[in-house]
Amino acid sequence: MEPVNLFEYEAAAREKLSQGAFDFIAGGADDEITLAENRRAFERIQLLPRHLVDVSSVDLSTQVLGQPLSWPVMLAPVATQKLAHPDGEVASARAAAATDTAMVLSTFSTYSIEDVGAAGSGLKWLQLYFQDDLDQTMSLVQRAEAAGYRAICVTVDAPRLSRRERDLRNQLRLPQGVVPANFAQTRNLSAYQAMDPATASQQAGLLRASLTWKEIDWLRSVTRLPVLLKGVLNSEDARIALDHGIAGIVVSNHGGRQLDGTPASIAMLPDIVEAVGGRIDLLLDSGIRRGTDVLKALALGAKVVLLGRPYVWGLAVDGEAGVRRVIETLRDELTLAMALAGCPTVATISPALIR
Ligand code: FNR
Repeated sequence: MEPVNLFEYEAAAREKLSQGAFDFIAGGADDEITLAENRRAFERIQLLPRHLVDVSSVDLSTQVLGQPLSWPVMLAPVATQKLAHPDGEVASARAAAATDTAMVLSTFSTYSIEDVGAAGSGLKWLQLYFQDDLDQTMSLVQRAEAAGYRAICVTVDAPRLSRRERDLRNQLRLPQGVVPANFAQTRNLSAYQAMDPATASQQAGLLRASLTWKEIDWLRSVTRLPVLLKGVLNSEDARIALDHGIAGIVVSNHGGRQLDGTPASIAMLPDIVEAVGGRIDLLLDSGIRRGTDVLKALALGAKVVLLGRPYVWGLAVDGEAGVRRVIETLRDELTLAMALAGCPTVATISPALIR
């Protein structure tokens, strides 16, 4: 039976994947308190619809950083997609292009910036993990510019990767050929076969633990692309970002995969909306599973949301076609939710929808 919602794609993917691969994607940090909270927080938010509004057509189109989007959902950067399917990020990029959905590619993708750039003509951004070596960091940015990516999204909640106990318990090792493709030419990646991926990334110098605002300023000075920060939860950091020329913030707790015990990102969105006062675009991820979740996030002030695990479940189930079906399922749900809430356009989604 074809899954009817995003939760059912997870169940179907579990059937297809090894325990190690499934747990790597599904899991979170430590006790997975934040991972669970991301769902609970959405469940607690209530929608108060308006009626007798003409919703005979519902228009999902919007924009972020001035870039047009056919709908307010993008694919989040998810590392190591070959673990889900041999076509990995290339399949995701093709499905994104086929559905006119924008995609953020992970620095730790298992196909290169160039290969994914050439896969489908959709809008793409690069998620950047600052490297220990700034020249190597620069090289990633230049490669993204050359390959037509339109923004750099710096992940700031991962100076180190957290302990993912499921991976330790499973003694997860990346299979031969499943390595961070962007470094295949320049680094010795044999550590990936010898230890868990989090430790291997750290040891290979692929995550800069000393990242500060100074490097963010440096990045801004060396690229013409807009720079976003991903992983901000504290409104003080959002306020500081305004002084550093940041184009947008992804309010995120990394899908519960970094510091355990943080609030759900949706719970912090109102504070951050207030802190930035409309001066930059806010995006949000962590826990989006339903069209109504997208509606709630937009009503609370997000311009766009990012979808993480669910599209990778689609990838595991049926490659490019599976990703496409996940996207279409969520888009159909959002269209229906907007109609039932009395919102014929994205612009009509307002805080008044939240009770
Ligand atoms: C991630 N995420 C992530 N984020 C990032 O900035 N760089 C990365 O390389 C990765 N890699 C990654 C791998 C896997 C397997 C997962 C599940 C997630 C986090 C991702 O971008 C996003 O913040 C969350 O996945 C959003 O939460 P949901 O939608 O998965 O609940």
